[in-house]
Amino acid sequence: MSRARSLGLTAIGVMAFTTLGALPFAMAAGAQPAQIKPGQTSPEPRSPQRIYAATCGYCHGANVGPVIMGRHLPQKAIMAFVRKGQGAMPAFRPTEISDTELAALAAWIERAPAVPKEHGQ
Ligand code: HEC
Repeated sequence: MSRARSLGLTAIGVMAFTTLGALPFAMAAGAQPAQIKPGQTSPEPRSPQRIYAATCGYCHGANVGPVIMGRHLPQKAIMAFVRKGQGAMPAFRPTEISDTELAALAAWIERAPAVPKEHGQ
């Protein structure tokens, strides 16, 4: 390989490295640094939709628990209920659903319209 050719390839390599290397920094600039705060199990809070689908919808709207969507239950009451539990409704600890996630989830449930396919007691 001639010296000129290998230098040319090196230059291309350096350019590619610089371009690709800068990407993660550009992407991270707008985002919060990934930090785990007390009462939070994952670095980024999960969306209310995701938590409801994975955790609450398992019972609510599926004949195990009462329908809670579309009833405009107050956010604070939902938050208290989730932390305390009652009867067949389990209590969820901050290690399972963080305070941040719960506040967003309860606000979302309060505002949510009824989901026609849900049914329950
Ligand atoms: C294992 C099943 C189950 C899961 C999972 C569950 N719930 Fe419940 N939930 C119940 C049952 C059963 C009741 C009725 C309890 C009672 O009054 O005895 C209830 C009651 C409630 C109520 C009060 C409803 C009313 O009519 O007053 C709220 C609010 C509620 N759940 C929210 C949630 C949220 C939010 C989640 C997800 C984080 C969740 N629940 C997960 C079973 C469940």
